[in-house]
Amino acid sequence: MQPSVAVSGRAEERIQAGHLWIYKSDVLDVEADPGDTVTVLGARGRAIGQALYSDRSQITLRLLSHGAEPADAALWRRRLVSAIGFRETLKIDASACRLVHAEGDLLPSLIVDRYGDYLVVQSLSQGVERLLPTITGLLVELLAPRGILARNDAKVRALEGLDQRVEVLHGEVPASITVREGPIEYDVDPWKGQKTGLFLDQRENRVAAAQYARGRVLDCFSYNGGFAMRLASSCDEVTAIDISADAVARIAANAARNRLPQIQVREANVFDELRRLEREAGRFDTIVLDPPAFAKNKASVPKALSGYRDINLRALRLLKPGGFLVTCSCSYNVDEATFGQVIREAATDALVHVDVVEKRMQARDHPVLLGVPESYYLKCFILRRLS
Ligand SMILES: C[S@@+](CC[C@H](N)C(=O)[O-])C[C@H]1O[C@@H](n2cnc3c(N)ncnc32)[C@H](O)[C@@H]1O
Repeated sequence: MQPSVAVSGRAEERIQAGHLWIYKSDVLDVEADPGDTVTVLGARGRAIGQALYSDRSQITLRLLSHGAEPADAALWRRRLVSAIGFRETLKIDASACRLVHAEGDLLPSLIVDRYGDYLVVQSLSQGVERLLPTITGLLVELLAPRGILARNDAKVRALEGLDQRVEVLHGEVPASITVREGPIEYDVDPWKGQKTGLFLDQRENRVAAAQYARGRVLDCFSYNGGFAMRLASSCDEVTAIDISADAVARIAANAARNRLPQIQVREANVFDELRRLEREAGRFDTIVLDPPAFAKNKASVPKALSGYRDINLRALRLLKPGGFLVTCSCSYNVDEATFGQVIREAATDALVHVDVVEKRMQARDHPVLLGVPESYYLKCFILRRLS
């Protein structure tokens, strides 16, 4: 018998409104094993659709299809073909990009990133974990990669009761892959680098920021120097800061590789460093703030907002009049309006006038599904300090 899960009327309404998730509190009855693809039953036993079932997560169901449409290997194949085809239409000027962005591609809890001839996959639910052999087979058939790595060491897997594991699913995957983003070359470590190796979601924001960047630049939370390197060619000097020794070594190596001697690297805590620069009365023409997600959950939002306010206030004080601040938040628990409000408060406290030059988001290969607000996580404002 096909496994099934019966859900409440509230869950049905949520699905009708375009969301893909059903929470534990809306589940009425379960006839399924963890990781099964199940039929979701609504009022009077009507089939609402097919979904991935998890017995551990607060997100019990992730919808794959509506009504009676089967969620079989053919559906996964169609969705993968569509996701890959969409990236081709984007004409991305890079050899690394996101091919599958989970809910944004109607493939909930699956991430697939391309790094040249290799793929890096993340499985973020019991259902996708069960289907990994099928998904791997489809990716080999569609893309013929030299290797596929599962970066299944994302912390969110713990919520699904899944272990932390990095393993090769197909072929061979080296410790370092060289990729190109526009004119910049990076050495990426797919095994141990942050996320799947690069912050691919900022690719288009780096290009946008380069249009405004000039003079003295401060790139805060630099990771492997993504913004610093993209901005450097139009700037006199760039200081890139990160707290991680490994990241700092990567920035230095990437700057040398791309022949960008104007990039200086500093291993430091940005919160301390901004204070130190204020005391020194250092001033900059361009500042980038791209911190990690300060609000990993709802409970941490107040502390996160105070963190965002602090760094934006100090950056605005360090910015010369006429200078540009590129400021980002990748916390989906802090929405665009709230982030905008925090920046406004920072500008008020800094006693400066600020224009919003651009409001941006994650790169287009990380699409936002309108019914799932959680899929819009990265905000990037480009601001001009007037006075
Ligand atoms: C979102 S990533 C930055 C991505 C990068 N801007 C890019 O375009 O690839 C955040 C970075 O902040 C660093 N980080 C976290 N907390 C920090 C702190 N307090 N001070 C400095 N760096 C920090 C992490 O090591 C990580 O590399």
